[in-house]
Amino acid sequence: MSANRPAAVVVLAAGEGTRMKSATPKVLHEICGRSLVGHVVSAARELKPEHLVVVVGHAREQVTGHLAARDAGVRTAVQEEQNGTGHAVRMGLEALAAEGVRLSGTVLVACGDTPLLTSGTLAALARTHAGDGNAVTVLTARVPDATGYGRIMRAADGSVTGIVEHKDATDEQLAVREINSGVFAFDGALLADALGRVRTDNSQGEEYLTDVLGILRADGHRVGACVAADHREIAGINNRVQLAQARRMLNDRLLERAMLAGVTVVDPATTWVDADVTFEPDALVHPGTQLLGATHLGAGCEVGPQARLTDTRVGAEATVSNTVAVRAEVGEGASVGPYAYLRPGTVLGPRAKAGTYVEMKNATVGEGSKVPHLSYVGDATIGDHTNIGAASVFVNYDGEAKHHTTIGSHCKTGSDNMFVAPVTVGDGAYTAAGSVITKDVPPGSLAVARGQQRNIEGWVARKRPGSAAAQAAQAAGEERESERGGPGA
Ligand code: UD1
Ligand code: CA
Repeated sequence: MSANRPAAVVVLAAGEGTRMKSATPKVLHEICGRSLVGHVVSAARELKPEHLVVVVGHAREQVTGHLAARDAGVRTAVQEEQNGTGHAVRMGLEALAAEGVRLSGTVLVACGDTPLLTSGTLAALARTHAGDGNAVTVLTARVPDATGYGRIMRAADGSVTGIVEHKDATDEQLAVREINSGVFAFDGALLADALGRVRTDNSQGEEYLTDVLGILRADGHRVGACVAADHREIAGINNRVQLAQARRMLNDRLLERAMLAGVTVVDPATTWVDADVTFEPDALVHPGTQLLGATHLGAGCEVGPQARLTDTRVGAEATVSNTVAVRAEVGEGASVGPYAYLRPGTVLGPRAKAGTYVEMKNATVGEGSKVPHLSYVGDATIGDHTNIGAASVFVNYDGEAKHHTTIGSHCKTGSDNMFVAPVTVGDGAYTAAGSVITKDVPPGSLAVARGQQRNIEGWVARKRPGSAAAQAAQAAGEERESERGGPGA
């Protein structure tokens, strides 16, 4: 394995990608929670190369900033003008050389717009390259439609003689179905030398990386090929149709991996999962669910239908249905939804509950505590085994600042309470329904904070005479009288 550790991986990402018709540079478009170039960099990373260089050009500040934010170990090299793939690799190698890096060993080249390329395929290419003692090994694929791709030329004995670009090919060459994936393994020193000799006398007036094969072969070096097991893996993204197709394929691959690891996915067609999502066995995912970012599903938990979880941890045996959650933690055996919204900083303890039409933010809910219905809990700490009555609001915002509410353990708060923060309800306290709690409640007390009820008898008969309400009231009065054994009973 370490013998196949590349000296460097060079990722080409300087092109504009005009066919995306987008203000966003092509390689920064996302599928499954990562940019296109991010997928390629991640695959390259798994081979632990000594150096990892991304060649940037179009929208370079944006691309460089993005790369720096996700992987501090990535270098970027600038290609001022897009003079071809050979020129781009040359810029990458020159940037390394300028930093005093002398490459000895294998240099892999890949493109920033092939997000389905796996580290396994890259490793297989590096292994073939080293095993066959090649100066260059090209990753090829046999495709149903070779339009636009460079064609692999082979001699009668099957050895690779070179690559001819679609635009430069004869009709006979165009008939070849084996194409250049754009991924290569090179001997680093030979590559640098050959790139210096690549010319631009082709239909596009560019320095073609593919010409290096012919140059090295003419020098008497071994040129080889490694055929990709699955041609779909090397598909490049040029437009948004291909972007959607690649997303579908990668999603299928990620779900397949999860299912083989013991996760039940009821409907893979309507389940979307990001590359960094992790699962434990016997997690169950219902239809219409999106698992995004670094979401984690614990053993035996049940998620969906219709859940969108971003960077959220779901504990073992918890259930989360019809819920949107962002940066939340759901404890073991806890229950969320249907129709809950857990915002950043929500932490539900073991067997806690955030029920129907409940929104939480920056709130810690202790073990076994429940917020079952129609409530907003913001900036709060709730102890263990407490029940919050239906339709309660944690009034956390005074128009300028947010304040905290603390509710103790074993409390029972009434329905339709307002907790006007900052306020504390002590352990074992009760609050009456309809209370507006503005003062701290000592442990074990009942807080009643609402107007006294007053009944004005006969008001309807006096103020709304003859109305349906008055008639109903009169009938009720007569009935009461007869029950009491009035005249005629
Ligand atoms: C290239 C290959 C072709 C192969 C195909 C696979 C060459 C000459 N042709 O063609 O044989 O079948 O890829 O997808 O290599 N790039 C730069 N700087 C440049 C030019 C390109 O960084 O000056 C980058 C692009 O951003 C892209 C990659 O290199 O990521 C490939 O460039 P592209 O123009 O798409 O190459 P193709 O014409 O598709
Ligand atoms: Ca091109």
